[in-house]
Amino acid sequence: MSNAPLVEIVGMHKAFGGVHAVSDVNLALDAGEVVAVLGHNGAGKSTLMKMLAGAYPIDRGEIRIAGELAHIANPADSQALGIETIHQTLALADNLDAVANLFLGRELMTRWNTMDDYAMEAAARDVFAQLNPNFRNILIMDEPCAALGPEETRMVHDLVRRLKARGVGVFLISHDMPDVFALSDRLAVMKNGRVIGTYRTADLTEDEVLGMIIGGKPVTRVAQQHRMLTAEAGS
Ligand SMILES: Nc1ncnc2c1ncn2[C@@H]1O[C@H](COP(=O)(O)OP(=O)(O)O)[C@@H](O)[C@H]1O
Ligand SMILES: [Mg+2]
Repeated sequence: MSNAPLVEIVGMHKAFGGVHAVSDVNLALDAGEVVAVLGHNGAGKSTLMKMLAGAYPIDRGEIRIAGELAHIANPADSQALGIETIHQTLALADNLDAVANLFLGRELMTRWNTMDDYAMEAAARDVFAQLNPNFRNILIMDEPCAALGPEETRMVHDLVRRLKARGVGVFLISHDMPDVFALSDRLAVMKNGRVIGTYRTADLTEDEVLGMIIGGKPVTRVAQQHRMLTAEAGS
């Protein structure tokens, strides 16, 4: 099981009445990996992540954490598994205040006026300990930079890189191609509840990604990069 991804979402499904918000989604995330989740409004990105966060019950499908079947029935279950979420709305209000105080508004400087990486690292630990004492493995960021200025966006990038270096896996929902290309290792494009393609970000151009989001068709020039799912490998 040591090769198992940090997170495997297998055959995930969620309907609201007649609306299939998420249909048969498979998606994996490794430790220290950033996977961007893209798609038009209504594509199912937030619903997928809310199931991982325990905010919505799962209609069908499995979540495995480090190869183990996870039972996520509510937010407390998700947090106990080391999963933290910065929701779209929270990112603009409460949560951001805590992070902003430490990172986004001002950088911690040494007395030689250089950035104090050690202090910032310690501050990051404090911030995330406040968010959730069990936070250690997985961070879901739902459009974290949507309402931020360039300086704050740069600080969010810095934060994501630090977490990544510590082995945290990040699902990043974003509409911003520069953010996606700066931060993500792989990206998955959703449309009408389905993942239409999963790629290594470096294999694609911004235009190709935008084309996929708008046109809803996978890019065929390069191979898709699904992370092997243990559930598939075992079957
Ligand atoms: N709580 C809910 N009740 C009913 N429909 C919902 C709810 N949440 C999402 N949906 C529907 O599910 C679909 C996917 O929405 P969502 O996951 O928010 O998309 P995205 O985050 O990609 O914009 C949309 O059709 C949306 O209207
Ligand atoms: Mg959303």
